[in-house]
Amino acid sequence: MSRLTPISFETSEIEAIASATGRVAIIVTPDGKMDKAARRANRLTKGAVARLLESDGFGAAKPGKVITMAWPAGMAAEALDVLVLERRASVIEARKAGAALAKVKGDKALLVMAGGLARPEDLALGLILRDYRFEAHKTAPDTEVGGVTIHHTKADELSLDSVRAIADGVVMTRDLVNEPANVLTTTEFADRLVEMQGLGLKVEVLDEAKLEELGMRTLLCVGQGSDSPSKVVVMQWNGGADGDAPLALVGKGVVFDTGGISLKPAGGMEDMTMDMGGAGVVAGTMRALAMRKARANVVGLVGLVENMPSSNAVRPGDVVRSMKGDTVEVINTDAEGRLVLCDVMWYAQERFKPAGMIDLATLTGAIIVGLGHENAGVFSNDDALCKAFLKAADAEGEGAWRMPLGTAYDELLKSRIADMKNIGGRPAGSITAAQFLLRFVQDGMPWIHLDIAGVASVKAETSLAPKGATGWGVMALNRLVADMFEGG
Ligand code: BES
Ligand code: MN
Ligand code: ZN
Repeated sequence: MSRLTPISFETSEIEAIASATGRVAIIVTPDGKMDKAARRANRLTKGAVARLLESDGFGAAKPGKVITMAWPAGMAAEALDVLVLERRASVIEARKAGAALAKVKGDKALLVMAGGLARPEDLALGLILRDYRFEAHKTAPDTEVGGVTIHHTKADELSLDSVRAIADGVVMTRDLVNEPANVLTTTEFADRLVEMQGLGLKVEVLDEAKLEELGMRTLLCVGQGSDSPSKVVVMQWNGGADGDAPLALVGKGVVFDTGGISLKPAGGMEDMTMDMGGAGVVAGTMRALAMRKARANVVGLVGLVENMPSSNAVRPGDVVRSMKGDTVEVINTDAEGRLVLCDVMWYAQERFKPAGMIDLATLTGAIIVGLGHENAGVFSNDDALCKAFLKAADAEGEGAWRMPLGTAYDELLKSRIADMKNIGGRPAGSITAAQFLLRFVQDGMPWIHLDIAGVASVKAETSLAPKGATGWGVMALNRLVADMFEGG
């Protein structure tokens, strides 16, 4: 896994400002108030900080911004970073401020003089998440990256355990999503999940023979054109009471989506290495839950397949039977995600009788047309569960927007020769995909479908991530589990 920036809390030691090498960050409020550390830096630099605070430029500085003073006189550091932040920063503000520091930090060691700042853990989380780099395939990786020390008045009461658990989960998701498909084959993906047994998760890998026996023909038909074997991996975290029904998380893990015989155009096809994003989020969430020893029962299931054209590949017009027993006419082999999910969802419900089920998938291009890269599409048959999820996502700053379901959309899936088709035509492409999945949700099962095609990996940096994989959803799901099962 990519390395997390080493970070630690230490009790405030004002003398460190003068002697620290690398970079030193101080915090000033948006209305220009200095804390003790800022005043010390001001004295060392013979009033440079005060002059900055009185300048026109500072008046325009928004909270969360960093203004860098290079090679400050009177200090050993090569830069003094002045972070503009309210002392009572919110969770989101503190994380964004940490991210802003990460952006200027580069490879240098950084000392942050946080004084009595509220939410220093969130500042640390934002810093770690924005300092992420995927360098697994860079031959000459960047030089040794310096660590971060945060000086805080209450350092001995602070813990980085939950920050590390969440950051580890998000970074695992990002690494999986960023990894190219020649490296992250279905087998490699499964192996990386099995490794998480070391964290106390129970992990099982179901191979093709087992999937065949279970009748998962819709899942298997997607992978049948690839040399990489299809797999379903089941991860169980039993941190809750014995016998309590778990929450089920189900992820689409198409390690590469060529479209199959309904081949995608060449331009941009390389982006389909991220088509396992749903499975990546399930994996990262399970990791975070295990690392922080969540007092909840959660089971994560991922369907790992590769969608390739070949003489064995499923054809448009083929009819396949799902594990549920319903038959599907495959009109378009590029609408493969729903074929994978429907079998894994059915299996999850049959085996675990979960209290609720959430599936995640980079399912449709149409959701990007509708919501862009700011929000995932949220589809649900249960207002209470949906509301709880939207609240958790909002609290974590992960965009999520509810979309409609309805029987009129379901009609579009009618097939002449089978129980349903796998596509509904151009209109409402994300909704008909969700309607397809809803056919595999058992009566009374609270369910959410998250279409993350627009948010799993993006071409521009986001507030907490560099370009590429974001890890969207790990923090929201982790919080939802805490809210729903652990009393918040
Ligand atoms: N994996 C794609 C969806 C996707 C598109 C994810 C862009 C990320 C970025 C999915 O399997 C797919 O191909 N969907 C088709 C469905 C269509 C054939 C009904 C699509 O969106 O075009
Ligand atoms: Mn596809
Ligand atoms: Zn796909």
